[in-house]
Amino acid sequence: MPLLIKNGEIVTASERYHADIYCEGETITRIDRDISAPPGATVVDAAGQLVFPGFIDPHVHIYLPFMGTYSKDTYETGSKAALAGGTTTLIEMCCPSRQDDALKGFELWMSQAVGKSACDFTFHMGVTKYDSATEGQLREIVAAGISSFKIFLAYKGAFGVDDTELYRTLALAKKLGVIVTAHCENETLVAERSAQLLAAGKTDPGQHHESRPPLVEAEGVHHLLTFAELTGAATYIVHLSCQEALAAALAARQRGVKVSVETLIQYLLLDKSYAERPEFEGAKFVMSPPLRDARNQEILWQGLRDGLVNTVATDHAPFDFSDQKVMGKNDFTKIPNGIPSLEERIKLLYTYGVKTGRIDLHTLVNVASTQVAKLFSLFPRKGTIQLGADADLVVFDPNYRGTISAKTQLMNVDYSAFEGWKIEGRPSVVTVRGEVAARDGQFTGTIGRGNFLEREPQHF
Ligand code: URP
Ligand code: ZN
Ligand code: ZN
Repeated sequence: MPLLIKNGEIVTASERYHADIYCEGETITRIDRDISAPPGATVVDAAGQLVFPGFIDPHVHIYLPFMGTYSKDTYETGSKAALAGGTTTLIEMCCPSRQDDALKGFELWMSQAVGKSACDFTFHMGVTKYDSATEGQLREIVAAGISSFKIFLAYKGAFGVDDTELYRTLALAKKLGVIVTAHCENETLVAERSAQLLAAGKTDPGQHHESRPPLVEAEGVHHLLTFAELTGAATYIVHLSCQEALAAALAARQRGVKVSVETLIQYLLLDKSYAERPEFEGAKFVMSPPLRDARNQEILWQGLRDGLVNTVATDHAPFDFSDQKVMGKNDFTKIPNGIPSLEERIKLLYTYGVKTGRIDLHTLVNVASTQVAKLFSLFPRKGTIQLGADADLVVFDPNYRGTISAKTQLMNVDYSAFEGWKIEGRPSVVTVRGEVAARDGQFTGTIGRGNFLEREPQHF
């Protein structure tokens, strides 16, 4: 059935204008003034509303075996929540443990998503070891449509790689035209500092950020980018949280190292005092890298304005407070790391970014959609509104007023890190390839309709 979005104000990363959008099949086929609806078309009246390209979250965890437990969402619950919040494409971290081969991991993650996701999806392929089988398997995975890898400098024993593995992964990525996304924290420093804190009886959630201060992250960034400089690989720092790490990334960029930077909605809006809340409440806010001193927030917003920070993700990693976060009640190193926010990213960016004047509307679209599509070989199929693009559209009502609460969220987790936060504006209609998949915060789409997005390598 054709879809017509009428009377809206289209906003892309570079343009803003009034026009109707007509979609046939799964794509946008006409953008014009005063398009009339053919019989049988679904018509959405977007008068007084903004129309954005579907948002892309470049860093989520839906299926995540981690720290002795599993993240709570499935592709069914996670994609519903994503769509309700205006995110129409997910890029998930495929994270096999070091015991598993890459290919087995890729197949496992695919099996979690195919036939279950309501929105489109792809993966950053986690390289969590590099043995004699790895290169062949990674080549196979790239041929199957993956054009980005993920490596962890932290979490040794689970996902973390050593320097030989890091070098080989980057060298292969350079050959294949694959961009390498990286979690940058120096694992040795984390382990030493954690042991010291625990030995001193400091076990509460507020110690988590003491165990991995900004220099631990900056060292990780510098470390990765030294290897990137020597191999020539293109890199992408995930969840960058602080000034020190940004300075290390920008210094490398100045030297000609190919590096892009992602920050998270959590780092832009929350600070480390949340993780220091009493009665173990702080555990809700434990993630890695940790929430930082509030002074870093303005630096990250400025980085977005200046185009130095390229994207805003969620690193959605939902663990229940009641029976999962509590695993670290007497030892902060055992609190499953992660702060869920998949459903809230766009509403928060709009309310606390655009409405406060920290970023403009084009920057919002750029960092939450267009840049992601460009970096990860999805553009212009995704990430913009133009003829021939997938009809992934977000009609956004700037007049909506509401409050975030775990009671009303679709994410399958028992708390919200943004409980009680006021929201000004939300998606009223969200489409995936021409089908209306969410209305007014509620899912209306089709489970299993989400496609795996095959992506081509690019030579950066
Ligand atoms: O704390 C976090 N970030 N949890 C998810 C795993 C990761 O490091 O991305
Ligand atoms: Zn990470
Ligand atoms: Zn992550």
